[in-house]
Amino acid sequence: MNARIGIKRIGVLTGGGDCPGLNAVIRAVVKTAISQYRLEVVGFLEGYLGMIKNMTRRLEFGDASGILHQGGTILGTSNRDNPFRFAVTIRGKKTFRDVSDRAIRNLKQNKVDALIAVGGDGSLTIAYQLYQKGVPVVGIPKTIDNDLWGTDVTFGFNTALQTAMEAIDKIQTTAASHHRVMVVEVMGRYAGWIALQAGIASGGDVVLIPEIPYDIEKVCEVVRERYRYGRRSSIVVVAEGAMPKKGEVVVQKLVEDSTDPVRLGGVGLKVGNEIEKRTGLETRFIVLGHIQRGGSPIAFDRILATRYGAEAVELVMRRKFGRMICLRGLKIDSIALKSVQDDQRKVFPNGDLVRTARSIGVAFGD
Ligand code: F6P
Repeated sequence: MNARIGIKRIGVLTGGGDCPGLNAVIRAVVKTAISQYRLEVVGFLEGYLGMIKNMTRRLEFGDASGILHQGGTILGTSNRDNPFRFAVTIRGKKTFRDVSDRAIRNLKQNKVDALIAVGGDGSLTIAYQLYQKGVPVVGIPKTIDNDLWGTDVTFGFNTALQTAMEAIDKIQTTAASHHRVMVVEVMGRYAGWIALQAGIASGGDVVLIPEIPYDIEKVCEVVRERYRYGRRSSIVVVAEGAMPKKGEVVVQKLVEDSTDPVRLGGVGLKVGNEIEKRTGLETRFIVLGHIQRGGSPIAFDRILATRYGAEAVELVMRRKFGRMICLRGLKIDSIALKSVQDDQRKVFPNGDLVRTARSIGVAFGD
């Protein structure tokens, strides 16, 4: 049977926050689609906004050349534009509309037989909703937060981790030279993967993650104790979603039309101020921010994104729609797109990574 019958043109979009490896995945989709199946590929620009507003770009084989090592996405992305809840301004008043039918019409107008949606939980939830409305969709998981349910790793995470680790390595020199406490706030939303692993990889002394609420006095005691033993500098790695035992996450702002409106940020300043006030030790805080999302993907992410992209095209050709590519151990597999909504993938407070960290003396402030 000729597997190509019925599928001649596929669409691809990148949604949610950018992360290293998006271009690698686009490249793999385009190269596999064209060279293996002689398909045509249409890119939708700026995530779902491209589907809603019919902003497209034809992707030829040549467009996939020379982009493997580039950060960001040649298609653009957005973590705001949801076809099921799209912000429109009517008579000066902002309101939300379901424009999914319009988005689906645009797919049809572009003669797209199947859509590959690359995104985090927000974008993949939209992909699942589109699938429920009859759109043949395959999802690919990406996010630096590594918090997607159903896959062991998302691409982008390991590059962000590398960036965080290298930054902390540099911060170590100031900490040691000035005998300071340096508090480093990293991204990750409600999951502590970046903080925990960057802390382990860079020799952090205290790691604060959302999964293990902290007691600031215990954090200060660790810092004081180190000082008493002659260790006159300390590195405290704080996940942006970290929270005190009796307290809440620190919210920086709300982005109303985003799939997840809450933007976290500010806990590093809060923790740093408390440490300085309570211990009297000179303390500085640094927010690594979007630096973690930028730059060239490391080899691991280039390879993972390439495997995800190529496999997504294979699923399309096998008509396995409503599925998300995933990594289980070392093997590429797929699961129902629906499972993205089941949960968030978080650090296990009693898991082996936390145990390893504790056994080499990392404190969690608990
Ligand atoms: O999900 C990726 C991420 O970088 C999170 O770690 C962070 O909380 C959020 O996106 C920041 O979003 P924005 O780019 O909208 O500020």
